[in-house]
Amino acid sequence: MKGTPRPDLVERYRAFLPVTDETPVVSLGEGSTPLVRASRLGETLGLPNLYLKVEGQNPTGSFKDRGMVVAVAKALEAGAQSVICASTGNTSASAAAYAAAAGIECVVVLPAGKIAIGKLLQALVFGARVIAVHGNFDDALRVVRALSEQDDHPITLVNSVNPFRLEGQKTGAFEVCDDLGEAPDVLAIPVGNAGNISAYWRGFREYRDAGIVDSVPRMWGFQAAGAAPLVTGHPVEHPETVATAIRIGNPASWTLATRARDESGGRIDAVTDDQILAAYRALAREEGVFCEPASAASVAGVTRAAAAGELDPDALVVCVLTGNGLKDPTTAESGLAVEVIEADPTVGGVATALGWT
Ligand code: F0G
Repeated sequence: MKGTPRPDLVERYRAFLPVTDETPVVSLGEGSTPLVRASRLGETLGLPNLYLKVEGQNPTGSFKDRGMVVAVAKALEAGAQSVICASTGNTSASAAAYAAAAGIECVVVLPAGKIAIGKLLQALVFGARVIAVHGNFDDALRVVRALSEQDDHPITLVNSVNPFRLEGQKTGAFEVCDDLGEAPDVLAIPVGNAGNISAYWRGFREYRDAGIVDSVPRMWGFQAAGAAPLVTGHPVEHPETVATAIRIGNPASWTLATRARDESGGRIDAVTDDQILAAYRALAREEGVFCEPASAASVAGVTRAAAAGELDPDALVVCVLTGNGLKDPTTAESGLAVEVIEADPTVGGVATALGWT
């Protein structure tokens, strides 16, 4: 191949991943996502060292690709012919893409009517078999777990209860440390099924234990107020939030996430839909970063903590922006403060439309 492609994720962090030379890795170019300094937002919040880990720039537009590349590779290594997952949208988009590239079947089970349109289209375009159930994500996960345990239709579960998913996702923490040259003081992250906060915590600990960084961050997780079981301490039967990606009432990685919180001296708090949408708009308008609503929960939480004086102004803070804003055009459109102005295709017509004449 000509040129120098950026190293693929599994190559870059091979020493930390459960792969061997026999593992058939199918890469789509995941990882190595930008760590963007949020100068304008940081100034507003009084946090000059605020950074955004822009995970929406992964191949299918979310952090899920980090875990999926490893999970699908290990499934292939074990001889799997098909994979299955429940999803609020991003896991299914990612599973469908990697299964397509690997030439195996993908089945996704989704909560009907609660998937952002871009994510649903991704699963369909990649050729997955898509089943929408009349229930929420927690119902869908229960079903796929049971299906994957049956003997008559062998199929590998690739939700984050598959241990290889978290192994891949921990590389997000490695990249944050590699880019900063140290671990941040605070890592803020949205929490749904609670796999990602657990994976990041594992990554930070492994990097510290390997002597690559001296410290680990406090882990700050944020759930949507209508879907905040880890905050209230008990499952939520009917989770609701505009951030459909984290509309989850009974997270699978509950214990791992609370352990990450407690071991790191961190917190898991709830942010309201209004706070999420305010952060979502601020990221776009002040930083030029278009993430999906769930992703903005991390910034919403940091915004509130900064306003309450709970953050040292010198703190090195990284917010993980988990998914791309283009996945959910419906939410983007419904909150628009500006509109398209029609004009004649002439200098005069456009100048008039701009109010310049
Ligand atoms: N942000 C986005 C954009 C997500 O899609 C998810 C989870 C999360 C945050 C939360 O991560 O579950 O590891 O705590 N999405 C899953 C899915 C549930 O099916 O795509 P988590």
